[in-house]
Amino acid sequence: MAFADGIADFRSDTVTRPTPEMVEAMASAPLGDDVYHDDPTVNALEEEAAMVTGKQAAIYVPTGTMANQLSIMFHTKPGEEILAHEGSHLRSVEAGAPQALSGVGFRTVSGDGGQITSADVERAMAMVGFYPRIRLLVWENTHNLSGGRVIPIETMEATSSTAREHGLSIHIDGARIFNAVAATGLPADRWAAVADTIQFCFSKGLGAPVGSIVCGEGSAIDEIRYLRKRLGGGMRQAGVIAAAARVALSERDRLVEDHVLARKLATVLAERFPGSVDLDSVETNILRIEFSKVGISWPELSDRLDGAGIKTSAPNGGTWRIVTHRDVDAEDVDRLISALA
Ligand SMILES: Cc1ncc(COP(=O)(O)O)c(C=O)c1O
Repeated sequence: MAFADGIADFRSDTVTRPTPEMVEAMASAPLGDDVYHDDPTVNALEEEAAMVTGKQAAIYVPTGTMANQLSIMFHTKPGEEILAHEGSHLRSVEAGAPQALSGVGFRTVSGDGGQITSADVERAMAMVGFYPRIRLLVWENTHNLSGGRVIPIETMEATSSTAREHGLSIHIDGARIFNAVAATGLPADRWAAVADTIQFCFSKGLGAPVGSIVCGEGSAIDEIRYLRKRLGGGMRQAGVIAAAARVALSERDRLVEDHVLARKLATVLAERFPGSVDLDSVETNILRIEFSKVGISWPELSDRLDGAGIKTSAPNGGTWRIVTHRDVDAEDVDRLISALA
């Protein structure tokens, strides 16, 4: 359902507002000082996240960016490189944080849908001598910039095993790992098992207002707790927001609804505007639409969308991105489709 002001916002799954259940949980959450590790609501959230991902421990942090950057700081030393997809969020759109904060560079690959193969790892590791040392392999699943594509578990297992043979550490940017879970039916701990650390976001499809979490071995999380303080990420009565994150995590099975909606929209667009959407690539809640095939200029469509109470991002590089989430429904999708007619 659209927001109370009638606006249906398809720009991102980050735009959701807290549900009444979340607000109620926030209002009644038991609180303490999380820097003293004393906030019972944060502690409960961390235990739940560790359990769901099959890791020993977890640490709640303000954003996905901080979760990724803390993980990079933990795994690497200045001068080293990260093996990652060229379109990975932590390399492309986290404001240069890996270079600025950890002093690391990237060795990139460009596989379809964010994929990295064992051959990619072998090729990268074969370059010996005075090349920067590669220390960390990073996965992003689902892969945002490719349109929420799921990296198959077989690929992650095979490539990670090769990376391990070369002594690499492994981190998963699982900002949307539960979309991968919803799309495949495979539990989160199966994906997390390939990695030393996994971060996921409560503030994306799960629908909470704030927060992400890093899960890993107890000793890793202890060190990341120290590094979190260094970055100013030690929050005090963070149970206020963690309470909403607990509700969001408990309702994660609803993500399939967002996928059904995205597919419905993709199917209509593909029928009406041939070549606009590759249906095979719509696996979760993000659509990438070839805007030139829609046959309308952006200024005109933008006016129509404004009139219909719909927000989307403007096309970027010819691609129009639409994202479904818990605050849009079938009626909103119909409105969007009518605006295109
Ligand atoms: C794949 C991925 N990782 C990390 C982030 C960063 O999350 P945040 O915006 O909470 O810093 C995002 C945000 O969109 C993302 O899509």
